[in-house]
Amino acid sequence: MANIFNFDDEFKLGIKAADIEHGQLVDMLNRTYELLKDGNREEARNYFNKTLSAYVHEHFRNEEAFLKSIGFPELEEHKVIHANFRKSVEELSLRIENADDVAFRQGLADTFTWIINHIGKTDKKYAIYYHKNRGK
Ligand SMILES: [Fe+2]
Ligand SMILES: [Fe+2]
Repeated sequence: MANIFNFDDEFKLGIKAADIEHGQLVDMLNRTYELLKDGNREEARNYFNKTLSAYVHEHFRNEEAFLKSIGFPELEEHKVIHANFRKSVEELSLRIENADDVAFRQGLADTFTWIINHIGKTDKKYAIYYHKNRGK
């Protein structure tokens, strides 16, 4: 089946750990849509909820540690953006746990937007900084 989302080169940062974790988020979204398409709504909802919650904790922690290690000057702003999304995911997650389908749809839409706007634009800023300063 065709993926709902392809992890094209435009989303890649050329930083291995980040690209792997970002790719995992895209895979998660594709898997969720696959389950939905097959009519496994409850499984899709539970899988999405569990995986997205883990992602916003693990990936954000790893990425912030990396940004600190390279001395990225906009780390604090980046952390605020992560914290806001994490908070919104945590709120949605509680509702999704209670089989709230509106929250589930909202979570799917927010994740889709997150990939395009955050991974595709905001994360790209640190990648540019990293590649420019590497080896100096
Ligand atoms: Fe990221
Ligand atoms: Fe980020």
